[in-house]
Amino acid sequence: MEQYIIKGGNPLVGEVEIGGAKNAALAILAAAIMTDETVTIDNLPDVNDINVLLEAISGIGAEVDRIDRHTVRINGSNIENFDIEYDYIKKIRASYYLLGALLGKYKRAEVALPGGCNIGSRPIDQHLKGFRALGAYVDIEHGKIIAEAERLIGKHIYFDVVSVGATINVMMAASMAEGLTILENVAKEPHVVDVANFLNSMGANIRGAGTDVIKIRGVSRLHKTDYSIIPDQIEAGTFMFAAAATRGDVTVMNVIPKHLEATIAKLVEIGCEVEEFDDAVRVVSKGDLHNTQVKTLPYPGFPTDMQPQIGVTLALCKGTSTITESIFENRFKYLSELARMGANVKVEGNAATIEGVDKFSGARVSAPDLRAGAALVIAGMAADGITIVDDIVYIQRGYERFEEKLRSLGAVIERVSTEREIQKFKLKVG
Ligand code: UD1
Repeated sequence: MEQYIIKGGNPLVGEVEIGGAKNAALAILAAAIMTDETVTIDNLPDVNDINVLLEAISGIGAEVDRIDRHTVRINGSNIENFDIEYDYIKKIRASYYLLGALLGKYKRAEVALPGGCNIGSRPIDQHLKGFRALGAYVDIEHGKIIAEAERLIGKHIYFDVVSVGATINVMMAASMAEGLTILENVAKEPHVVDVANFLNSMGANIRGAGTDVIKIRGVSRLHKTDYSIIPDQIEAGTFMFAAAATRGDVTVMNVIPKHLEATIAKLVEIGCEVEEFDDAVRVVSKGDLHNTQVKTLPYPGFPTDMQPQIGVTLALCKGTSTITESIFENRFKYLSELARMGANVKVEGNAATIEGVDKFSGARVSAPDLRAGAALVIAGMAADGITIVDDIVYIQRGYERFEEKLRSLGAVIERVSTEREIQKFKLKVG
């Protein structure tokens, strides 16, 4: 089992290049099988979740040609199997996007039912409601969702909760339905817009992505495209909070500053200086930082995927901060790990109260999930002494060359897997 070992205390300083958005890429790769022509996708992040989804796609018979780490060519003309096994869905929940993609193209899909996940219960009722509204017969049998339709017919659908997954999944199916679909109360995240743009570049007719209402006029076929995925706002935000927590000066490069507004607003509120450029954002953290209140909300609100990173930062800010987690109920597990590093935190239901401390002290902690894992790495870099983060397999799901990028900013961090390597690191850093 690999771990990160970190010697804290160095402010992060420099420039870091941000990769393609994992959550956009997951949906775009699934949507790529919706044409029989060859699709080329660029700016793909080279992370485990993406690699697993590509395996799932080639498992159903699509041709997947990885041209280089960040570019893939997909041809979905030979798909004969519409059945996505539990092995994939267990490793990566977002393989359920193949439900919308296969249903749209072939009017049939079978996908293992995603189980519980460690950040909350994560139901998919809104996805199924959307498919049913389009005329699909959806059943759950032997742990699988089976969706099929003679014809998919456009419909007016109102989502009961704002869901990124349901918005994208139903949008994909509707893009190959007959007639007009109107989706209301949809998610507005940048990756929803990116998936709509991708489908449109394949000949779909989707309008309004990025607003509360998406209108889709179905088409009978989609065609080839070359597409580049948007930058990952969560990776960017992670480095921005790392700059804040370590009292550093970091410029995140290749970003869309507009997508980072909620993050920038909070950094400014706690006392960081933030400078925006066309495709870069610089965060300078000097002097005392102070408390604020945070509530996670769908975009353009503060992202739940950035909640642990701001939580770690607030634990080092003067005064009492509060965080309300309104999207997923189980996203505070990192705070008990952080308490082992000296943070002063109290969790009640979906609210956390954080009393800032001057310093963390290094400890052995465990990554409870992807974003919380990255946040604990930030804590380790801001702590006195040595921190070991276990279960980094979660972090590798969504951050490409994380330790390399951090090292390029001056962090002292290594990926290790044996006690011997840990001892070697300790001797080296003194
Ligand atoms: C996506 C992101 C995830 C992010 C989340 C919220 C991907 C692959 N993952 O997850 O990183 O944390 O958006 O920004 O893009 N809900 C229902 N019924 C449904 C669907 C969702 O009640 O059918 C609820 C969920 O329990 C949650 C809320 O809606 O409380 C938002 O979930 P959703 O936006 O669907 O998250 P994901 O798409 O799973």
